[in-house]
Amino acid sequence: PKKEHFTVVVLGASGDLAKKKTFPALFGLYKNKYLDPNTHIIGYARTKMDLHVYHDQVSKYIKIKSDEDKVHLESFLKLCTYQSGQYDKDSDFQELEHHLRDVEKQTRAKARLFYMALPPSVFIPVAKSLKKNNHPEGVTIRLIVEKPFGMDLESSRELGRELGALFTEEEIYRIDHYLGKEMVKNLMILRFANVIFGSVWNRHAIDNIQITFKEKIGTEGRGGYFDEFGIIRDVMQNHLLQILSLVAMEPPVSLSAENVRDEKVKVLRYIPPIQAEDILLGQYVASEDGKVPGYLDDKTVPKGSKTPTYAAATVFINNERWSGVPFVLKCGKALDQQKTEIRIQFKDVAGNLFQSLSRNEIVIRVQPGEAVYVKMMNKEPGLGMKTIISDLDLSYSKRFNDVAIPEAYESLILDALNDDHSNFVRDDELDAAWKIFTPILKKIDEGHHDPIPYAFGSRGPKGVSEFVAKYGYHRGKQEYVWPHSS
Ligand code: BG6
Repeated sequence: PKKEHFTVVVLGASGDLAKKKTFPALFGLYKNKYLDPNTHIIGYARTKMDLHVYHDQVSKYIKIKSDEDKVHLESFLKLCTYQSGQYDKDSDFQELEHHLRDVEKQTRAKARLFYMALPPSVFIPVAKSLKKNNHPEGVTIRLIVEKPFGMDLESSRELGRELGALFTEEEIYRIDHYLGKEMVKNLMILRFANVIFGSVWNRHAIDNIQITFKEKIGTEGRGGYFDEFGIIRDVMQNHLLQILSLVAMEPPVSLSAENVRDEKVKVLRYIPPIQAEDILLGQYVASEDGKVPGYLDDKTVPKGSKTPTYAAATVFINNERWSGVPFVLKCGKALDQQKTEIRIQFKDVAGNLFQSLSRNEIVIRVQPGEAVYVKMMNKEPGLGMKTIISDLDLSYSKRFNDVAIPEAYESLILDALNDDHSNFVRDDELDAAWKIFTPILKKIDEGHHDPIPYAFGSRGPKGVSEFVAKYGYHRGKQEYVWPHSS
């Protein structure tokens, strides 16, 4: 990849995403010397504020663990300047252009990375203003854009058309931060660099696959945004489907971005739209002790909203490798624990040599506590020939305990600076993803699917266990607890 010297512009610099993710990630890259020390970072947003107020905001979520970090932060902040402006006013973007040129005179940067941490309503106006005022000839432009990429197939295509008229696909980096997570990036290596996994990764050996996302937090404070989208658009259609495509795709011709993305799109195209009988929806109500309010108690949520905060949906991939294997996607907010994992359950052992066997499982723990473990049967040590369920456990905290795992956003921003699109969503990939979800989302939006209430902090709506069992998942007769589950 060609290395260029960038100026970074964060649009929506006073927003939550920028503060919580973008700036800490830029700082992480800076601290670990992945950013050219000359890189200047301009924040742009509507709020008027002094530089020191802005610097407080930039630093708010940056974790300082040592004196060394403190020194790094001080020098990092020297690179960070701010400009306020409206999102649709040319004169404000011309001012930004002056700011950029002043900076570039000093740093000699010839490339610009625009990071759009913006609400969807101002997305296109900003893209237009940037194109018109901040895209001089001879300057490389890269645009990182954040979801939501539309509400359904139609609006996503419309957005794509509008953005496509302004910037080329090469200039656009659609972020799905799950693609920057360590264990998601590990999927291709696990599958394609290990005979013991690669050779059983198909319908002949695998019975069912579950991809689960659980969060303890509710939608507090984001009820307004969330209610329009719901958990399927917020998490399932993007993060979980991205994981699915990496779990299920065929080996790419090479690791080049286009080869990888070709395979991801291809596997998605084998998935028919989700059927009504293959979903289960939930919405959280107050916690059992009544102390934590429910979804509808949030003032920013419209009265009587049926927006799901929990969803389970099963998809099938109609190709040679996966025909008949259910992929159960589950995601929810306000649950009993936080975790994201991929659980691949194998078929029963044939014959009747042993009784009470549990099925093999490969579990890829995405977060927290990255791990890959294989549940397997073993002889219970001692006299006799009893079987016992055990595991081969690669827990990162044990095996790689002196390695800091980079934040997803660090990894992805670095990719964009290095012109590597592999871990970004391509336009046709987005299209294929929306095709799977749009029909069912339409029915849900029309109110055809009432969500089942579940208490804040519970395991989710009643019926989830039956739902996964319906697709063949066996709990196993022997009690098993992964030793590192917290
Ligand atoms: C975001 C969703 O994309 O991902 C949030 O909008 C969700 O609702 C978040 O909480 C989860 O990300 P992470 O990295 O904390 O698992």
